[in-house]
Amino acid sequence: MEALVTVENLVKTYGAGANEVQALCGVSMEVRAGEVLVMMGPSGSGKTTLISILGGILTATSGSVKIDGREIVGLPEKHLPALRKELFGFIFQGFNLFPALTAVENVSIMCQLKGVRNPRQRAAELLESVGLQEKLKSYPADLSGGQKQRVAIARALAGEPRIILADEPTAALDSVSGRTVLEIMSGLAREKNRAVVIVTHDPRVLDYCDRIVHIEDGRVGREEVHNQREKVA
Ligand SMILES: Nc1ncnc2c1ncn2[C@@H]1O[C@H](COP(=O)(O)OP(=O)(O)OP(=O)(O)O)[C@@H](O)[C@H]1O
Ligand SMILES: [Mg+2]
Repeated sequence: MEALVTVENLVKTYGAGANEVQALCGVSMEVRAGEVLVMMGPSGSGKTTLISILGGILTATSGSVKIDGREIVGLPEKHLPALRKELFGFIFQGFNLFPALTAVENVSIMCQLKGVRNPRQRAAELLESVGLQEKLKSYPADLSGGQKQRVAIARALAGEPRIILADEPTAALDSVSGRTVLEIMSGLAREKNRAVVIVTHDPRVLDYCDRIVHIEDGRVGREEVHNQREKVA
């Protein structure tokens, strides 16, 4: 599988002097097209820091992150928004939906930001693809946790990102909603060759993933390969 993201010897230090925290101490790993990669590790081990640097939301202290062959560490910050817009979809904990906008408006606004043509129609299609065709005009307050998370997934898919980054996407979900969300995400990797990176503590995710990277104290510990795809095929 083709490497979409290659990380080498990545270091991230927060703060300075007595307040200095070494969040990442030399992480090397890669993310490949078509795979579901799971990152697990104890609280404070550096997972959110790592996924945020991968997505160009946070800048690294040193090391190398190549996205599609392009180095982003040291890139002037003004270049990052364009890169994010072009390559990434983000699904972060807590949904971050706009409460005053309906489901279709929440997705459509992202389609507009990504320069998608016919944003409203595309938003409706994306919501349909996650099974929410009946809820286009519902407000977040009137949706269940699983439905809100599916709106967040539909929104992350605006603009056809090649890499989907999700931080604890199932944490707030019951068992059935959690599995629905995971099926949608792994389907994207399998059928559309997207790379899906999921940070989680949720063992249910392991049924859907290809590889697990364990992060411990800002380092990559073990790496495990899952053979789920072979079993399914
Ligand atoms: N903005 C920040 N300023 C200073 N220190 C930070 C900041 N963000 C994170 N840290 C520290 O960096 C380390 C890694 O944090 P990070 O959020 O990446 O962990 P995590 O693995 O995502 O944890 P969790 O599972 O609890 O979400 C922690 O020690 C944390 O306290
Ligand atoms: Mg975190």
